[in-house]
Amino acid sequence: MRSFMGRDILSLNGFERAEFEHVFAVADRFEPVPRERRRLDLLKDKILVSAFFQASTRTRLAHESAMLRLGGAVTGFADPKMTRAGDFYQESIKDTVRMLEYYGDVIVMRHPQEGAPHEAARWASIPIINGGDGWGEHPTQVLTDLYTITRELGGVDGKTFVAVGDWRMRTMHSLAYALTQFDTKLIYITPDEYVPDDRLVKEVQDRGLHIERAEHVNQVIDQADIVFIEPVVQPDYTKGRDERGREVAKTPANYVVDNDVLAHAKSSSIVIHSLPRMDELPATVDGTRHARYWQEAYYGVVMRMALLALVLGAAE
Ligand code: CP
Repeated sequence: MRSFMGRDILSLNGFERAEFEHVFAVADRFEPVPRERRRLDLLKDKILVSAFFQASTRTRLAHESAMLRLGGAVTGFADPKMTRAGDFYQESIKDTVRMLEYYGDVIVMRHPQEGAPHEAARWASIPIINGGDGWGEHPTQVLTDLYTITRELGGVDGKTFVAVGDWRMRTMHSLAYALTQFDTKLIYITPDEYVPDDRLVKEVQDRGLHIERAEHVNQVIDQADIVFIEPVVQPDYTKGRDERGREVAKTPANYVVDNDVLAHAKSSSIVIHSLPRMDELPATVDGTRHARYWQEAYYGVVMRMALLALVLGAAE
């Protein structure tokens, strides 16, 4: 297995099974720390730079909370308008990260442009963590999701995923790549205009993933061990910020997971959603045995603790 020390976390394409298992094992070691609301001093000499060129609640704050739990410090920005990248100068990614690397030891970057963290990694001599790039990928979210599944269901192998929602979403791409490393079946349900790219489907099939499409969540809900949901009513992920400013459509029934749909699910099945949600996941599901998205949000901190410790060489 390749060492994580000094590594960029840009994509789950090429992330190997042993690496998933290792990251999950390291996460297990750190899990008691946020649960007991403690802090370590493991990264007391290190600084995380948050470079968020696109809106975020969970990804930025989970990384920052993880860094603080590990005893490190945090600096950065959550609004590019406050930087030279977002004003008259339109400073390039290259120039920006060549500055940021002097200000800290690891950078977590979210950007509306697909491939921006990869571009940053070309120029930075410190690790870059992709916090979501346009419609590209969201590797740390899907690591969080698979870790949540491992904690809640004992593992990923042998499970059927029903992935409902917009398949342009970066989480869906990271999920498909990740599941090639496990013995799973992936059933996706998405509108015709949001189907996954043929190349992605072929790539993951060639690596052994059983992937198929269904039209309506009701047709396959009884097969699901994991219901993996994203909205189909979406902002534009190629923008830094997409204000509401317009009527928002209702989610068609094919892509809604509500209590009536879950009445036909296995009693052991779990629902995860990276959040924020729209009407595809009504709040009435929160009180069911299936809901695991709040646990998922908590494990988001644990997973980022593991990743930060690994790339900064504080965990082997
Ligand atoms: N899950 C997720 O990426 O949430 P944020 O957009 O709030 O970071």
